Amino acid sequence: MTLTAHTAGPTARTTGPVAGDGILRRQRLRESAARTYARSFPIVPVRANGMTVEGADGRRYLDCLSGAGTLALGHNHPVVLEAIRRTLDSGAPLHLLDLATAEKDDFTTALLESLPREFADQARVHFCGPAGTDAVEAALKLMQTATGRRGALAFTGAYHGMTAGALAVTGNVGIKSPLPGGGEVTRLPYPYAYRCPFGSGERGARLGVAYAERLLDDPLGGVLPPAAMILEVVQGEGGVVPAPDDWLREMRRITAERGIPLIVDEVQTGVGRTGAMWAVEHSGIVPDAMVLSKAIGGSLPLAVVVYRAQYDSWRPGAHTGTFRGNTLAMAAGAATLRFVAASGLAERAALLGARISERLRRLQGRLPVIGDVRGRGLMLGLELVDPSRAVDSCGAHPADPRLAVRVRAACLRRGLIVELGGRHGAVLRLLPPLTITDEQVEAVLDRLADAIEAAASADDDADGESA
Ligand SMILES: Cc1ncc(COP(=O)(O)O)c(C=O)c1O
Repeated sequence: MTLTAHTAGPTARTTGPVAGDGILRRQRLRESAARTYARSFPIVPVRANGMTVEGADGRRYLDCLSGAGTLALGHNHPVVLEAIRRTLDSGAPLHLLDLATAEKDDFTTALLESLPREFADQARVHFCGPAGTDAVEAALKLMQTATGRRGALAFTGAYHGMTAGALAVTGNVGIKSPLPGGGEVTRLPYPYAYRCPFGSGERGARLGVAYAERLLDDPLGGVLPPAAMILEVVQGEGGVVPAPDDWLREMRRITAERGIPLIVDEVQTGVGRTGAMWAVEHSGIVPDAMVLSKAIGGSLPLAVVVYRAQYDSWRPGAHTGTFRGNTLAMAAGAATLRFVAASGLAERAALLGARISERLRRLQGRLPVIGDVRGRGLMLGLELVDPSRAVDSCGAHPADPRLAVRVRAACLRRGLIVELGGRHGAVLRLLPPLTITDEQVEAVLDRLADAIEAAASADDDADGESA
């Protein structure tokens, strides 16, 4: 253990590579085996500004992870810092359970103003424990209370969080085990065009709709009327899989016709990420509830469920929690929501997303290890495959998770933070801040292309403490 890192407090952060190595070593010794990003990125960030993160070793990285999509404005944006400083200087209480405060009032105003009018006009907001997973729990519980039913409809590839109810509706079998059971969840196929057993393109999505509808109406189908359907407009952790707008409209129709509340989980897609303030705007569907977290807190923890007032059948205290009144997060969140809207950052995300996708598709033409390029706005994914192996029954080459790990490490060596996701962890996920500049776009694309090329030709070995 280095003395400086141990005794000197925060100033030790700037003492260079030795301090960084010590911190990493102590983290490995002290923290749990379940740590994740810390394995992928064995760096010790000491400073961050916008898209740039500086490590204790003095190296700079372009951050395409953005706190798993949390940092809509990048790190330490002046608007966010100003809101936090102003609130601190005002003497406002920092922790207030769910009491009324001017900051909460202002956040709720900013949030409702940002949401689609047809939804916001008749909405109620419930502040949750400050993580997306608790807002998912709240939404499911709310709809169970309102309908008097228990089960839920959820999708293959879904990710909704790590607490019991959210995990039950999540698709990832690896993170569910060894917990028993999966709750009363009926799994439906999400339209994953690249590997769709019903066929690629629109046909697969159309058959998925027909399957869902038949199953729900089949008296021998084994599905009791559910309390809710929960879905993501673009699956993030599931591998950046965007649902076609028509498919979403069909899910809205199917649920509305059968009196099944529709919960849209916008924890990752919200606040401009997909090229619209909220991803539901692309298809125009109006859900019964929206689950929101990550970017709404402007980099501080905050989570809410917003729902149509008709479902507000809860008793006082029906979904409580200590940390539901984080004054700083409300102030940072309100400032972020307003800045994203006023600066047209959702529109810019759409523009840049199209530009980056186009460049990635050109790269795909040159590098056959890139099996698929997909996404929406600044939520983009590259699925890496092994082109030397035969295509599977869905017509795609097998995923290449080992290559993906090598590419991630090669990116890091080139000063680029990119995380993996999706089936077998073979999807490179790009989640840059919405404030990314044109020059940074070029730098990301250059580094990424170089890293994929090097890793694919095995010029570049994987490193890091990968899982
Ligand atoms: C769509 C979605 N829902 C829920 C969650 C869970 O949020 P949290 O990690 O804050 O519990 C996540 C996290 O990545 C997510 O992407």
